[in-house]
Amino acid sequence: MRRTLIAGNWKMYKTPSEAVVLAEAVVKRLSAPDGIDVVICPPFTALEAVGKVVVGSRVGLGAQDVHWEKEGAYTGEVSAEMLRDLGCRYVIVGHSERRQHFGETDERVNKKGLAALASGLTPIVCVGETLSEREAGRANEVVAAQVKGALSGWASRDVQFLALAYEPVWAIGTGQTATPSRADEMHAHIRMTIAGLFGADVAKEVRILYGGSVKPENAKELLQQSEIDGALVGGASLDADAFASIVKAAKSS
Ligand code: PGA
Repeated sequence: MRRTLIAGNWKMYKTPSEAVVLAEAVVKRLSAPDGIDVVICPPFTALEAVGKVVVGSRVGLGAQDVHWEKEGAYTGEVSAEMLRDLGCRYVIVGHSERRQHFGETDERVNKKGLAALASGLTPIVCVGETLSEREAGRANEVVAAQVKGALSGWASRDVQFLALAYEPVWAIGTGQTATPSRADEMHAHIRMTIAGLFGADVAKEVRILYGGSVKPENAKELLQQSEIDGALVGGASLDADAFASIVKAAKSS
């Protein structure tokens, strides 16, 4: 049984003091346990302050990126151990904005995912095709290549600790969502790709989240799909009411 995971990606929004206010509002609205895993991923600068707010609550803490080395002369970077020590349990890896603007390659995504795993963090590895790739009929091929690249060298016993997020690039921040059935088909394709690498039993344990303009209005229908195990929420996670409604939609779906 895959536990539903709802993750909030705050991107480069919220100063530490603003982040505390938002995190307190999220914790307040989600105080009752409901069998759904919830995580919020503020910017690095707010992790410590938000960590103090969520500690002891059912809301987990995650980061938005990580470097693959344990430590070293890598100015500006942050290691998995550093995140772990701050109380993080999750980290987003390979978000399309990083692939697009910061030269994130499949190889780096792979190294980051393995580093996260080695430090006991759950990597939320993002994959997804661009609009031109979809229009060229290459969506399945592109996503499968990203999944294979991200999971190269993984031991099958570790794959259970992975969460994948399918985020079609054309749906991120645009208000356009994949139709639930189309998203479900891609999730099935991703699961089949994982099964091809590690076997069907391993693949069936992996949580595959959908991301791209998830809102309270569309969350239930998306989360009702059998292959959609949660959501990676950007814009709507910056509003405590909207984020809490998405978690509630997950519960009732
Ligand atoms: P969005 O972002 O919900 O604002 O589309 C999703 C994401 O980038 O993770």
